[in-house]
Amino acid sequence: MTEEQKIESLSKENRLFNPPADFPGACVKSLEEYKAIYDRSINDMEGFWAERADELLTWDKKWDNVLDYDFDKPEIKWFEGGKLNASANCLDRHIENGRRNKAALIWQGEEDHEVKVYTYDMLHREVCRFANVLKKLGVEKGDRVSIYLPMIPELAIAMLACTRIGAPHSIIFAGFSSNSLRDRINDCGAKVHITGDGVLRGGRKIPLKPNSDEALKECPSVEQCIVVPRANNEIEMVEGRDRLWSELMEDPEITDNCPYELMDSEDPLFILYTSGSTGKPKGVFHTTGGYMTYAAHTCQWVFDLKDDDVHWCTADIGWVTGHSYIVYGPLALGATSIMFESVPTYPDPARFWQVCEKFRVNIFYTAPTAIRALMREGDQWTKKYDLSSLRILGTVGEPINPEAWMWYHENIGAEKLPIVDTWWQTETGGHILSPLPYATPLKPGSATLPLPGIDAAIVDRHGEEVGPNEGGFLVIRKPWPGMLRGVWGNQERFKQQYFQGFPGVYESGDGARRDEDGYFWIMGRVDDVINVSGHRLGTAEIESALVSHPAVSEAAVVGMPHEVKGQSIYAYVTLKAEYDEDDDLMKDLRMHVRKEIGPLAAPEVIQFAPSLPKTRSGKIMRRILRKIVEGDTSNLGDTSTLADPSVVTDLIEGYEEIM
Ligand code: WT7
Repeated sequence: MTEEQKIESLSKENRLFNPPADFPGACVKSLEEYKAIYDRSINDMEGFWAERADELLTWDKKWDNVLDYDFDKPEIKWFEGGKLNASANCLDRHIENGRRNKAALIWQGEEDHEVKVYTYDMLHREVCRFANVLKKLGVEKGDRVSIYLPMIPELAIAMLACTRIGAPHSIIFAGFSSNSLRDRINDCGAKVHITGDGVLRGGRKIPLKPNSDEALKECPSVEQCIVVPRANNEIEMVEGRDRLWSELMEDPEITDNCPYELMDSEDPLFILYTSGSTGKPKGVFHTTGGYMTYAAHTCQWVFDLKDDDVHWCTADIGWVTGHSYIVYGPLALGATSIMFESVPTYPDPARFWQVCEKFRVNIFYTAPTAIRALMREGDQWTKKYDLSSLRILGTVGEPINPEAWMWYHENIGAEKLPIVDTWWQTETGGHILSPLPYATPLKPGSATLPLPGIDAAIVDRHGEEVGPNEGGFLVIRKPWPGMLRGVWGNQERFKQQYFQGFPGVYESGDGARRDEDGYFWIMGRVDDVINVSGHRLGTAEIESALVSHPAVSEAAVVGMPHEVKGQSIYAYVTLKAEYDEDDDLMKDLRMHVRKEIGPLAAPEVIQFAPSLPKTRSGKIMRRILRKIVEGDTSNLGDTSTLADPSVVTDLIEGYEEIM
């Protein structure tokens, strides 16, 4: 790294919390045991993963070859020759092994009285029926199905029905706009689309069907659209294209019996879009054997998930967290998983804790942004309910600031529960860096150590491993079963994004350092990706949305520190000469981004700037813009390459006026 790119860490956290003494049944019981397992997993990677895959999943046919890979191509194959089905691993085998009447999914709707419990048997029946519906609509193995639904049981049912018949699903978070939806559907070429009438969110009703209607006008691949009513919204049904879920499920020809499709280990399981530093979102895709092994493995060890546990991951299934830790991980293990439709603060800021008491939740997994939002509401809300069933707490999505960590630890964890701070990505399929709850001593704000089987390192710009406490790029040197297998339809981008920066290793895009104990401290993205409330947004996408507005000639977007969201979006906008800088236009620009991408991407602050800092070759120097919004203008670094240094002074003045 050049001097100006060097990643400086300001964190000086040095508190240490030891794991609870002796939990007899824990998967991994001590740091020594973790270290022994870790060493073995690195020295005999194939042996380690073969054992795990064998223990955790039911294979219709055992694999011929554990691992075959070449990061230069890149190409990664796990458990080749193996045959299995994800839906059968999540359902059928549990019905045969004594969990037939156990709760698989507990759905908690927006209102407290709205609860649905699906036993493994019931879920199996619904999944089989819907799989038959899809087949009747002409969906075949390999066809893609796009799903755009709120957090209702039909979402999980649709996912498992897709995997049952070997049709990769592509779930699009219901907060995305019609344009984002359209681009994703077209990128994966979905044949069938599943949508709802609306989303219930903290007492509000947000329409959904109009977004699908708008998108589908420009999605030639979609032949049929299935609609699941939830919000009692009035909707338009398009003749010949739209069908109601209930109508299709009640068709007398549809039976409960749907044999699962035998899939190759490396057959695609799903596609999930995520933002990168450049261009359009990438369709990250995962495959069957490796992803399922990894989801089950991490769910079992990181959450120490036991048969009697009630597991609650508060994420939306539209993100990878929900894929791996509401549906595939917990159900593969035969556990009970809660699916929550509402928000942390509805009807009041005690909702999470009320739900924990109600279902005697044992494992609770949420995001730092939610913890910070609840922390602001005061401790009193946490005292209203009995939280004694909780055994393990977790966080994901962004670094957790030590203050929020301590609040979680004291108020929810009764100062004794382990907190697993899990670092991972859409691309990794499951946790990568994380404590093991009964083994790893914790440091607030650190995702601690790599999980067994993960060869993580921090390297400098030349790919050389750096010393203790030196910042660098977080890379993973060996494949793991849950890693992405590609970018849908664009293997060139797969290579360029993840394997070109540091040849021979996987590049995460995050900066980090390791302390003297080998603990990892994540310092955030090194590329132009902004993390808003634990969700990745590419600056390029937001900028191109802004520039698509008729008034805008140029835009640059950076992340600004935000108390609750972690980061929020700060946009510098240069207008075309004939437009005036006023509040109405600012509102209009915000609305425009909401419409183009979704509410998450709407800029928190817009600063009109007559010009932007550029190099002589015309590149916007985002580094400087970032420094300004971080309030760190005393040290702008090297500005000698600026074409016009006076631009910066104007921008700083503008910033100071706004903030
Ligand atoms: C990016 C991945 C993994 C599911 C949710 C987000 C950041 C994630 C942590 C953590 C620090 C974290 C990273 C990563 N991130 N977890 N525990 N500590 N940073 O998935 O949208 O693919 O985003 O989120 O920057 O690269 P995603």
